[in-house]
Parts: sequence; structure tokens; C-alpha cells
Amino acid sequence: MGDIYDNVIELARRRGFVWPSSECYGAVAGFIDYGPLGAMLKRKIENLWRGFYIIREGYYEIEAPTVGVESIYIASGHVKGFADKMCQCPVCKEYHRADHIADEHGTAHADSLSTEELAGIINGLPCPSCGEPLENADVFYFNLMFQTTIGPGSQRTGYLRPETAQGIFIDFNRLSRFYREKLPFGAVQIGKSYRNEISPRQGMIRLREFTQAEAEIFIHPDHKDHPEFSRYADYSVSLWGQTHQMQDIEPVTPTMREAVDSGLVANEYVAYYISLTHEFLTQVGINPKKLRFRQHLPTECAHYALDCWDAEIFSERFGWVEAVGIADRTDYDLKAHAKESGDKFSVFVPYDEVRYEQRRTIVPDMGALGPHYRGKAKAVADALIESEPGPDGATITLDGESLFIPADLYQIREETIEVRGEEVIPHVVEPSYGIDRILYCTLEHAYEEEDVEGEIRKVLHLNPAIAPVQAAVFPLMNKDGLDTIARNLALELQKTGILAQYDDNGAIGRRYRRQDEIGTPYTITIDYDTLKDHTVTLRERDSMQQVRLLASTVPETLSRLIQGTLPFAEAGRKI
Ligand code: ATP
Ligand code: GLY
Repeated sequence: MGDIYDNVIELARRRGFVWPSSECYGAVAGFIDYGPLGAMLKRKIENLWRGFYIIREGYYEIEAPTVGVESIYIASGHVKGFADKMCQCPVCKEYHRADHIADEHGTAHADSLSTEELAGIINGLPCPSCGEPLENADVFYFNLMFQTTIGPGSQRTGYLRPETAQGIFIDFNRLSRFYREKLPFGAVQIGKSYRNEISPRQGMIRLREFTQAEAEIFIHPDHKDHPEFSRYADYSVSLWGQTHQMQDIEPVTPTMREAVDSGLVANEYVAYYISLTHEFLTQVGINPKKLRFRQHLPTECAHYALDCWDAEIFSERFGWVEAVGIADRTDYDLKAHAKESGDKFSVFVPYDEVRYEQRRTIVPDMGALGPHYRGKAKAVADALIESEPGPDGATITLDGESLFIPADLYQIREETIEVRGEEVIPHVVEPSYGIDRILYCTLEHAYEEEDVEGEIRKVLHLNPAIAPVQAAVFPLMNKDGLDTIARNLALELQKTGILAQYDDNGAIGRRYRRQDEIGTPYTITIDYDTLKDHTVTLRERDSMQQVRLLASTVPETLSRLIQGTLPFAEAGRKI
């Protein structure tokens, strides 16, 4: 048995899951193609995610462009600050992430160090490409966004989006109207994001073009209790908080209720999406023993984020891999877009009961101001309205000069007004999933090599809900009508929406192995008994157990097995 990563990648390439992009022109690091089975697997993982976020949570999906105008990314801070710390090997001239080199040589939390600190640490360490010492290599920032121009003549600068989130933030006002301006509401997006990663040497973990599935949930800043929190109140997952990390303590497993009440997790919304993420990832097939949630350290957490947790999945090759980030982003993004665009990014939230407030309004007497101030009368009136005049007069500032306005040039009115509600800038809770990382880890956790009667069986224990091929139908022999029955059964399965492959090629044992390797959960064999009693053999991939059942009941039985509503032992007569 080799390294599990090498085995998984070898299988993925050979059987059509994933391979390097543009191989015939020399593959470029950071880009991959999903082959026929990989594309299907990816779609199914995405659809399982949709089941959670769209169908269950009720957050509708949008699809925004992958190219965005510069203003979006000026507002979001990406133009100024979306950069990694880079160094260049003085010998082979290769570029590297300076924090990764420091990290690989034992520096803790290297990504939070300054460029100067990193330069000191990497000085003399071996270059990951050529092995020569990195003598006096500078460390400098490199912005990860791919820049482009929109239209001919370089009229407008654009960027390939580095996250799908901004497309949702800038649609806030339209989304707010769609949801009838009622908080909380949310929108999701699944699509490609682009980051010009400096040295992507980790296969599917660090890509330059990758798929994100993100939910942006807009909530009232004073109401961070999730209305459905009871669903997960008793749920517990492995939580590795800031203090645990700093004191070198193992992760803990409180219930979500306890985690929020003790202050470990900032609020119910964050705790709710940590739990949902755990439920989703384990349903996809991530081994729960290799899954933990790590809180960002104060030095890692974006300055605007109130609390941030990463779902980390353990990979034999890569160690703990961040696959999902869950953050309370506060009102940072909406405020930033309001400032940059001049639009309002708020919702009107009505009070439970109408409130009455005393309001003081200043009414300038334009008839009197005109002769006094002529061309400046309007500006004086505007400044008066903004001022706080006393009973004897007001002092305003006009064109940088202080000006006294006598009290007979305006009136002060005190009125009681009805206030029905207030404009609120919502806070955003964001679970952000990297689909490619989840897919790779799913393959790694599903992969097994076992000795079956002296032969190595390679098997992908994929959840039947996401397996690309759901069933395979084999005629024992390609003759005596067995093949026709098998073809017809495959057709029946396809009519029920089950992706079933017909295979009559080679010995039956080899056909089983081929399907095991791509994770097909069920196989059906048509043999000579089928001709007599219309029964077929149904085999379960994981246990390799077999049952016998009527051919006519196979579509219904398989549907229930795939949905997980029927145990295999009850699918037919054990043989
Ligand atoms: P890392 O520290 O590994 O670079 P990140 O903190 O920059 O990741 P986020 O910005 O939080 O990642 O992005 C959200 C999610 O998008 C991540 O949890 C990850 O699953 C995915 N992601 C980010 N960058 C990449 C990449 N280069 N390739 C594949 N997936 C990625
Ligand atoms: N939207 C979170 C991220 O991509 O960083």
C-alpha cells in the first residue's frame, strides 16, 4: 500500500474524477479538470449543500458575475489588503509563501507575523524548490486578485472575484426587497472564485480557480439568537477555542447551548452554522473523528469579524485542512459598500409599538434671510437647520467662517412626532465552504484498500447520496436473454432517476471491483435463476453482502436504499 494521497490521486486520474488542466500544453499549477465522475460527484455534493441551505434554511440562491468592477473590491478592502507574504529564492528565482516556509520549519501562527519578522525567520532556511539557503531574501506583499480590463481600450479595471460573497453584498437592497425587508434573511451562491495563489503545491487543496459555496445571512445586530437554535442546542462537536490553542489544550466537546452560554462561541447564529456544517460534512462522508472546529486566534481574525471558526478536516497528506470558514462579519461589508457607492444598505425595522418623540425643528425665515444674505441665503438656511440655535441666536460656520444669525431670522418648533421604526444596518453571519477541499477530503476518507481472499480490493465508501454512479447492472453471461433482462432493468432504474450503468465486460469479480473503485454502492446481477423465478442478486458495496429480490421491486428498493430509509438487511432474502 502506498501513500493514501498518491493512491487517491492515481485512482482519481485513472477513473475520471480529477486530472490536471490543459495537460497537452503542460499543466499549470492551481488548475484542475473534473472528469465525468468527478463533475458528477461535485454536483451531488453541491446539491446536498443546497438541500441544507436553500430547502431547509430557506435562503435562495443567486448567480452573480465572476468579473467585478474595481469599486466592489476597493470597498471590500481586497484591492488594498488581499495579499499574501511572498519571498523569492535568490538562487532558483522561484516565488514562495514566506509564512508557509516558516510554518513548515516549526514557527507557530506564521501567517500573523509581519514581513520583517518573516524575513528574519526564513533567512538561511532551504528553498522548497532548489534546497539552497534563502540568504537575505526579502519578504513582500503580493495581491492575490487576478486583474483584468472590461471592454476594449482598457476602459475599466475589473477583477475575477476572490470570493462569491461580494456579489451577494452588493445585491443587498434588491434581496432585501425580495424578502420584504424582513430580517433575518439570507442568500447563497455556489460558483467559481479566483486567487492567484503564489505557489500552489497542494493539489486540490490550493487552487487558483476553485468553487465556493457561501451563505450570507443578514440578521438584526441586537438579535443574534437563532429562531431554530433548539435544533442544535444539544448537538456537540469538537471545538478548539482561542484559549485552548494558546494554552496547548485539546479541543472540547460541549453542547452548543453550553458553548454559547459559556462565551466560547460568540452567539447562537455562529453556533448554529458550526453545527449545520458538522452535519453537512459528516453526511457528505467526512469522518467525524477527523473533523474539528478551530477558532481564529486574535491575530488571525479579520479586524471586523466578531468571531470566526474554521471547520478543519484531517488529511493524511496535508494535516488539518481548512475546508469551511464560519464568521460573524458584523456590518463591515454593508457599511463599506454604502460608503463607496453612496447608496443606503439598511432595512427599515418597525418597532413593536409606535413611539412618540419630541422633535425640535428649525424653520429658517427665507423672506428675512434673502435680503440679509442674498446669494448665500440658501447655504445659511441649510447650515441653520443643521445647527443647534439658542433662544438668542445661532452661530453657524459658512465657508470656514463663523457667522452669528439673530433669532428673528428663524423659528424653533417643538413637535411630538410618531416614530414607527428605525433604519438598521444588519450584521452578516457567513458560512463559506470550499467545495474542492471538501471533495478531496471526502475521497481520502472514503478510500480503502482491503485484502479480499488474497486480492487487494480498492473501494471508495462514498455515501450513496453522492456516489456518481448509483447502481450497476450485470448479466452473468452475455447470452441466453440475460443481457436483455439486464439492459431492461438498467432502463427501468434510469426512468426512476437512478444513474445505473450496464456492464457485461469481463468476469463478474472484475466488474464488482471496477464499481467498488468508483464508489458505486449497489450492484445487481441477472443470472440463470432470474429466468426461472424473476429474482436478481443485489450486492452492497461496503459489506459485500448479497440479497435476492424480485427484479420488479429493484427500482423502489434501490431508491429507498439510496435515500437511507431502508436497511440493506431488509432489502431482500439473504443468501
Ligand atoms: P487558506 O488560509 O487555506 O488560504 P483562507 O483562509 O484564505 O484559506 P477563506 O478566505 O476563508 O480561506 O476562504 C473560504 C474557503 O474557501 C476556505 O475555507 C477554503 O475551503 C476555500 N478556499 C480558499 N482558498 C482556496 C484555494 N486557493 N483553493 C481551494 N479552496 C480554497
Ligand atoms: N467569503 C469568505 C472568504 O472567501 O474569505
